[in-house]
Amino acid sequence: MTMTTHANAGLRPEELRKQFPALSRTVNGKKLVYLDNGATTQKPLCVLEAMDRYYREYNSNVHRGIHRLSEEATEAYDSAHETIAGFIGAHSWQEVIFTKNTTESLNLVARSLLPTFKKGDEVLLTQMEHHSNIVPWQQLAKQHGLVVRYIPVTDEGILDLLAARKMLSAKTKLVSLTHVSNVLGTINPVREVAGMAHDHGALCVVDAAQSVPHMPVSVQELGCDFLAFSGHKMAGPTGIGVLWGRTELLERMQPFLYGGDMISSVSFQDAEWNELPWKFEAGTPVIAEGIGLAEAARFLTGIGMDSIQRHEQALARHACEALGSLKGVRIFGPRERAGLVSFWADPVHPHDLASLLDQDGIAIRAGHHCAMPLVVEVLKQPALARASFYLYNTKEEIDALAAGVKKAQKVFG
Ligand SMILES: Cc1ncc(COP(=O)(O)O)c(C=O)c1O
Repeated sequence: MTMTTHANAGLRPEELRKQFPALSRTVNGKKLVYLDNGATTQKPLCVLEAMDRYYREYNSNVHRGIHRLSEEATEAYDSAHETIAGFIGAHSWQEVIFTKNTTESLNLVARSLLPTFKKGDEVLLTQMEHHSNIVPWQQLAKQHGLVVRYIPVTDEGILDLLAARKMLSAKTKLVSLTHVSNVLGTINPVREVAGMAHDHGALCVVDAAQSVPHMPVSVQELGCDFLAFSGHKMAGPTGIGVLWGRTELLERMQPFLYGGDMISSVSFQDAEWNELPWKFEAGTPVIAEGIGLAEAARFLTGIGMDSIQRHEQALARHACEALGSLKGVRIFGPRERAGLVSFWADPVHPHDLASLLDQDGIAIRAGHHCAMPLVVEVLKQPALARASFYLYNTKEEIDALAAGVKKAQKVFG
């Protein structure tokens, strides 16, 4: 089977853009400026082609057919786990489970760990979590008598680690936190938090939806127990997410979904579970998506995750300067941040701002960013505008955003 490899091309956004067909389109007669990468990223040709090739040339189910096409599909799908294991520094491909998205990965952890919790046990989250790392734990707490607590966020938009230290106790069974906040851009000190959790005998889960696509991430270096992310936010397809977990934990956990492929044997009375990671991948899996995701990981690796991070952080600094120089613009989050900027531009409501920018072909996100408790209760905002960057964005696009914001302020001023 042919696998595309990508030479390290350095990071030249103008060159890279040519590989993303969607970026060459126009919107409302204007060149598209796509600054909604926190929601989802555009896809490069190599990912589209890898998935197309699977469907055209070796479309078949995996792990069951003793024929050429099925063998080819199985080889490509299984090796996609290896590629992703390498991408996040996992010891073994068997620790990599393909799910539907970050949300499903976090639900899997919550549901499958449930038998290890007892009434009164505490789950520690942070105030800057996405709903997908709040609601599953809240529901578990309501249904099974657990207690959910939240590490506060300081006025600068960073985690209050002193408070976290005080909140941890023998009752804490699990700490689950985002690596990078999708609202504040804060990069959390996961290694330190994981160490604190382990000192209290608690597990540490990391929502890496906004980190794995944008910076080098090694699960070994983070020292966490589980890590979740989505393919569509890292130049890969929708419909696939990843859960990485430590072998010894995954082996002890209950499956999340039951059915075909996740069993080693079934009788009319009972069933035995398949080996990892198949125990957690019930039914026909995300074959084309797995192949596409592996291609995306190779593409990003070819560019270099360090270069991607440096590029995006430079864009974020530029955005903070360009937007921050406008009267009435308030930027949320710390100075040291990942490649996204949330802001409020007086007197324009973020929804109006997003509509006006769209008229000029500029795509940003407006709303609570699936982090209502943070935006509404902590930052006390009804909504925020957010520009989020990826490897193909340029300073000129950010200048266009700043000009668009200024124009909108004049319209509403
Ligand atoms: C920090 C964070 N966690 C989780 C998610 C959920 O990702 P998905 O919708 O792909 O499950 C997102 C998506 O925006 C996110 O930004």
